[in-house]
Amino acid sequence: MLVLGIETSCDETGVALYDGARGLLGHVLHSQARLHADYGGVVPELASRDHVRRLLPLTRRLLEQTGSRLGELSVVAYTEGPGLAGALLVGAATAHGLGYALGVPALGVHHLEAHLLSPLLSRPAPAFPFVALLVSGGHTQLMRVDRVGDYELLGETLDDAAGEAFDKTAKLLGLGYPGGPALARLAASGTAGRFTLPRPMLASRDLDFSFSGLKTAVLTVIRGREVDETARADLAAEIEAAIVEVLCAKARAALRHAGLKRLVVAGGVGANLTLRARLAVAAHAHGFEVFYPEIEFCTDNGAMIAFAAAQRLERSPTVTPDSSLGFTVRPRWELETAAR
Ligand code: KG4
Ligand code: ZN
Repeated sequence: MLVLGIETSCDETGVALYDGARGLLGHVLHSQARLHADYGGVVPELASRDHVRRLLPLTRRLLEQTGSRLGELSVVAYTEGPGLAGALLVGAATAHGLGYALGVPALGVHHLEAHLLSPLLSRPAPAFPFVALLVSGGHTQLMRVDRVGDYELLGETLDDAAGEAFDKTAKLLGLGYPGGPALARLAASGTAGRFTLPRPMLASRDLDFSFSGLKTAVLTVIRGREVDETARADLAAEIEAAIVEVLCAKARAALRHAGLKRLVVAGGVGANLTLRARLAVAAHAHGFEVFYPEIEFCTDNGAMIAFAAAQRLERSPTVTPDSSLGFTVRPRWELETAAR
């Protein structure tokens, strides 16, 4: 079974080929980060138009790189949601158009399910069941995962996502878009603790998060004061420490709650090295294992879409790809309701 996976939910155009027997054959990606940088965030209309420009040339490049032909495809998978409506429509329309022309079905994939299963592309792959910490620009969720398609929400953010907190506070520090990686780089040369920021909901007894107060706290620190290079780095380090501490504590609490010893971290913030270092220490101290996708598959990519589609098709016989010409996208879509 050869799956073409298409990701266009936000500002990355990703395409990949996954073969049921041979694994991932290849993936290509175009990031729109530079396109949106001048605006300090993603401009949805520009994102959609750029997906239109990139998607087919990227697909051609992928086929060349992997020595594959469109005629070999068994299914065309695409991100059905959640994400930006216009951006999703480009991937969905292309997948259905390709599928129709080739006489193969198209299969819509839940973006978060794809993130959540992406660590299974690495070796060693985590065994089920596990707790997944999904930390992206749009979502912060803790899920219990018993098998492909069986997801129980344990807790989530009440307001901003962890990636959003990185991006918004990075903006306050005058860092470019996307802010997470830039803030992490600056934090590496700073010292946490010089400034004190809150650890939101650290002591709440549930598994929920709240990160929106962090930007107000940062604003309060920088308002009316001269913030030199050292202060900016120290503040960046404290922001990163605050977010990472809450994520680690809640992930541990979720493992305790679920009675499990395996944690999977997925989504863009999973690329953060401080988070990885802190979780490694906690895992060693408390006897649990942590699994990540490869760094290149932490942020949005086509490989996770092709892989998630292949997993669903192989393991859930009830999943039937759609061969009809009509299609929908789901800009808002709860993962639990997508489970089949
Ligand atoms: O999963 P992703 O590519 O897109 C969504 O589905 O949202 O995640 C993007 C988010 C952005 O907020 C970005 O700032 C954050 O992940 N991010 C990071 C790092 N790399 C990406 N945040 C902190 N440290 C990083 N190294
Ligand atoms: Zn994502």
